[in-house]
Amino acid sequence: MAKRLAGSVAIVTGASRGIGRAISRALAAEEATVVLAARSIQPLAQTADLVVQAGGRAEVVITDLAREADIEELVRTTRDKFGRLDILINNAGITHSARLDATRTEDLDRCWTINARAPYLLCREALPLLRQAPRAFIVNIASVVGVKGYPLQSAYTASKHALRGMTMALAEELRDSSVRVHVVCPGGVATDMVTGVRPDIPVQDLIGSEEIAELVLYLVTRRGNAVVDELHVRRATAAPWFG
Ligand SMILES: NC(=O)c1ccc[n+]([C@@H]2O[C@H](COP(=O)([O-])OP(=O)(O)OC[C@H]3O[C@@H](n4cnc5c(N)ncnc54)[C@H](OP(=O)(O)O)[C@@H]3O)[C@@H](O)[C@H]2O)c1
Repeated sequence: MAKRLAGSVAIVTGASRGIGRAISRALAAEEATVVLAARSIQPLAQTADLVVQAGGRAEVVITDLAREADIEELVRTTRDKFGRLDILINNAGITHSARLDATRTEDLDRCWTINARAPYLLCREALPLLRQAPRAFIVNIASVVGVKGYPLQSAYTASKHALRGMTMALAEELRDSSVRVHVVCPGGVATDMVTGVRPDIPVQDLIGSEEIAELVLYLVTRRGNAVVDELHVRRATAAPWFG
């Protein structure tokens, strides 16, 4: 029997490792074709192998999300190769750890460029294709820092608040369309990113990437009259009701 995403095409940014790789595998397990975007060729090729092993199809598009031309090329390649786009996962992100008064302008700009500007541009470029799909989904991966503030993470926090804000505005704009827009706000997930900036959290207390992937899969495989706009996902050991 065909799986739930058979025939669907998804773009996943930041697919070379961490949460993006886990999301790519989860979509593939439902037989999606997954367009894998990031800068690192070798890790992307490994994700492509995992996607195929999971039962999906993979297309690697080397993409530097700081470059608008690369974002346009990512959508163009998807359109030219597959003629459709059903799911856009804006997952790629970077963090920066420093007090605000020690944060250089270039570090702030980089967080803003990858975490907020790139998803904004990619949504804009992908919308014409997404609107053609019978049921389309945009899932933006923000963070707990998109809801609250943490010391030493002001640049990251500002960029994730921006991502969450633009998600809300876009969801309103697309209310009468076939495109649903969601945002996921995870706490600490066991990836390279968090083990670098939060070595104080024991790895066994972190959320698994596969757990975030499961939740994304839930969002993109259901279409009822009940809509989940936003998912707040905390570590089981963290305080409840962040925000
Ligand atoms: N880990 C956590 O605790 C946590 C919690 C909440 C939210 N998040 C969010 O979840 C998302 C994924 O995080 P992660 O933990 O999986 O991080 P990660 O392991 O560091 O992976 C980040 C991904 O983003 C890609 N990326 C970075 N800069 C890029 C650029 N200029 N162009 C294209 N791709 C770029 C990387 O690929 P290349 O380096 O190959 O380009 C990589 O695939 C991020 O948005 C992050 O903010 C993470």
